Amino acid sequence: MRHERYFSQPLEFHPERWLSPEHQLYDARYANDNLKAIHPFSLGPRQCPGKEIAWSQIKLFLGKVLWAFDLEGVQGQDKSFDKDFSVHAMWNRPDLYVRFLPAKGQTLPGKLSLQR
Ligand code: HEM
Repeated sequence: MRHERYFSQPLEFHPERWLSPEHQLYDARYANDNLKAIHPFSLGPRQCPGKEIAWSQIKLFLGKVLWAFDLEGVQGQDKSFDKDFSVHAMWNRPDLYVRFLPAKGQTLPGKLSLQR
C-alpha cells in the first residue's frame, strides 16, 4: 500500500527499506515502515493461487544467479524505476542492460563456463 501511514517516501523505489539494521546499506529513514502492508499477491479468496510457486521460483532463481554472478548496470543508461517503469494491469518495462560478472571466488554451476 503506497501510503505515508505505512511507508516513508511511499511513492519512491527504495529497496533498502527491506534491509535489516545489521546490513551495511540499512537506512534508518525506513525504520518505521510497516513491511507487512505490502501484498503483491493480493489478499482474500481471490488472491494469487500461484503465490507459493512464484516465491519458490523467485528465491531459487535469484539465489542461483547471485551465487554465481555479480550484477553491474551497463553505463550510459538513464533509467529510473520510479520514472520509467509502470504497471497498468501489465508491466511497462523499458530495456535495462545488466552485465553478469563471475562472482569473486565462485565457480559457475552446472555446464556454465566462462572459458571459450
Ligand atoms: C511474481 C509473481 C506473481 C505475482 C506478483 C502475482 C500476483 C497476482 C495478483 C495480484 C493476483 C490477483 C489479481 C486480481 O486482483 O484480480 C493474481 C491472480 C492470479 N494468479 Fe498470480 N501472481 C504471480 C505469479 C503467479 C503464478 C506463478 C501463477 C500460476 C502458477 C499465478 C496464477 C494466478 C491465477 C490463476 C490468478 C487468478 C486467481 C483468481 O482470479 O481467483 N500467479 N496474481
